[in-house]
Amino acid sequence: MNSQRIKISASMMCADFSHLDNVLLELKRANVDALHFDIMDGHFVPNIALGPDLVRSLRNKTDLLFDTHLMVQNPDNYFDMFAEAGSDILVFHAEACTHPFRAIQRIRAYGLKAGIAINPATPLSAVDYVLDQIDMVLIMTVEPGFAGQDFISSMVHKVRTLRDIIFQRKLKIDIEVDGHINKRTIPDLAGAGANVFVGGSSGLFIPGLSIAEAVKIMRDSALSNYSC
Ligand code: DX5
Ligand code: ZN
Repeated sequence: MNSQRIKISASMMCADFSHLDNVLLELKRANVDALHFDIMDGHFVPNIALGPDLVRSLRNKTDLLFDTHLMVQNPDNYFDMFAEAGSDILVFHAEACTHPFRAIQRIRAYGLKAGIAINPATPLSAVDYVLDQIDMVLIMTVEPGFAGQDFISSMVHKVRTLRDIIFQRKLKIDIEVDGHINKRTIPDLAGAGANVFVGGSSGLFIPGLSIAEAVKIMRDSALSNYSC
């Protein structure tokens, strides 16, 4: 088991914005691996959240990896903005992008990592031809758009199938999971091969639990079952 492959990415839309400096400090102390920015445009998803100004202002305060999840139509129109703001990896949705090969090339031209995301009902075939071009696949484990939704358990099988394809093709791609990720859902997902876990309202920002405790619980849940 390669424990260094397990990463916890903190979903910033679930953070307490009235104490963002403290949150950032706690996240650093808790050794999270990345900050996950859920960018929502009100079109691809029926919600509006986060933007480049937040990414840019936090970029000045931390060298943590910035994992930007673009839940937007025509994501190519926003690569400039989020590259300039300080993202390290740009993740766009297969459902929202007409020319994914071109999109990946553009992300690479900024010197950034590229990831592709798929909604729960989107089959893995949607990413099949770009797998050898990307650094990460994000499997949504809830419908994108809102925190606090129920986990869609059939996504464990999707993760396992993707892990097997990646293994057969001898690729090195992270598998990120996003939506209701916590100590109850992580063991099965880690067992199926997921290695990047987005901590939101159900796993990381929990009233009565410190961020450090929550990160430890998430990481331990993943390490106990990770199978790659
Ligand atoms: C869905 C979001 C959530 C977010 C919140 O669009 O991207 O998945 O991470 O996490 P939970 O589901 O724990 O509230
Ligand atoms: Zn996300």
